[in-house]
Amino acid sequence: MILEGRFWHPQRGLTDGCVAIGDDGTIKRVAKTISGAKERVRGMLLPAGLDMHVHFRDPGFPHKEDWASGSTAAACGGITAVVDMPNTQPPTDSPAAFADKARRAATASVVDFGLGVSARPGISRETWFDELPAAFWKLYPYGISWEDYQSTATEVTAAGGHPLVIHGEHPSHIAPGPPRELAEHTAHRQLAEAECLAGMPASPQLHVAHLSTADGLAGLPVGATAEVCPHHLLLNLDACDSLECKVDPPLRTPRDNAALWSGFRDGRIAVLASDHAPHLPEEKASGAPPSGIPGVETMLPLMLQQVVTGNLELGRLVNAMAEAPADRLGLSRGRIARGQPADLIEVDTKATRPVVLERLHSRAGWTPYEGWDAIFPQRVWRRGELVAADGEPQASRGGQPLFTAQP
Ligand code: NCD
Ligand code: ZN
Ligand code: ZN
Repeated sequence: MILEGRFWHPQRGLTDGCVAIGDDGTIKRVAKTISGAKERVRGMLLPAGLDMHVHFRDPGFPHKEDWASGSTAAACGGITAVVDMPNTQPPTDSPAAFADKARRAATASVVDFGLGVSARPGISRETWFDELPAAFWKLYPYGISWEDYQSTATEVTAAGGHPLVIHGEHPSHIAPGPPRELAEHTAHRQLAEAECLAGMPASPQLHVAHLSTADGLAGLPVGATAEVCPHHLLLNLDACDSLECKVDPPLRTPRDNAALWSGFRDGRIAVLASDHAPHLPEEKASGAPPSGIPGVETMLPLMLQQVVTGNLELGRLVNAMAEAPADRLGLSRGRIARGQPADLIEVDTKATRPVVLERLHSRAGWTPYEGWDAIFPQRVWRRGELVAADGEPQASRGGQPLFTAQP
């Protein structure tokens, strides 16, 4: 297949030309002209997104999401690869749990996938620590003392190998009971992020998940990378005060939004990630909702709209959604260039339409972005195969692991 039109060249930016895709799903050639039958691109061709932070809930909570529903939502939103977090049931914290989840994903996912593995004290001494093809180790502040949290971060970053992704909230600030209102949840965790980050090792192995505060950004450990989620850029307590919007870390203030936007625009926060965290609609509507906002399908459409309104440079978005997460995880992908997987989205910047819950594919059945302007990709290819068109799935299954064991 040869696609012809405007595309994002990793060095030159928007360029007119042709992209040839081989039967093996990789990009064979990128050139001004290529002979052969061509298909015209409407708008422009961008690398598809790699979302390094999703919760697809399988095994354990498939009624909230499973690999089929989560990956379909991802594909329709222009994401062709995800990394799933280990807080499933059972948690992904052993070779057996890893193999079980990898099998589920390989059976049902339409997008390519990596798996995060839960870190705990002493994990670097496990026999499998150097061999498990994890995307990264993940450290949560729940059910752990600050001493163990800190020592695990030091232990795992010093051991080298995979990155350590932290949920950067100090465990002492995690309130035991449900908040009465959303502002209370935010108030509880006001200092949690900055205090946690101040106690983290200065290590290039460290990656801070879902950065949410101006203070956290100012106090990023030296050498560490970070990600930001659409909800911490676009939402705050003024815009959304219902308990449904309870998320960890919480929604904050417009001042925090502004600081995060500045860090995101200038690349101090390199990565865009959704922290797609679906729960049942009735759970979210209850008086004691679990934390989490779904967003894997709306992330790129909302951010593409931010590009159109002049709030974000296209090149920065391409970097944050495709290049930077790939680089962070040591993967050769995310660019429209020879040898890369043909993971592409066709985007028409004139095709703005509102987000409509009925047209989303997550089991979450809820979105805080109902009615927001967005630009959904016209077509989405995963390794050269059309997996979504006009926000609807065109394929099921076929996802492959992003990481495999070294022989
Ligand atoms: C996540 C979940 O529901 O799994 N919830 C959330 O509020 N972000 C967990 C997490 O990412 O911390
Ligand atoms: Zn988290
Ligand atoms: Zn998460």
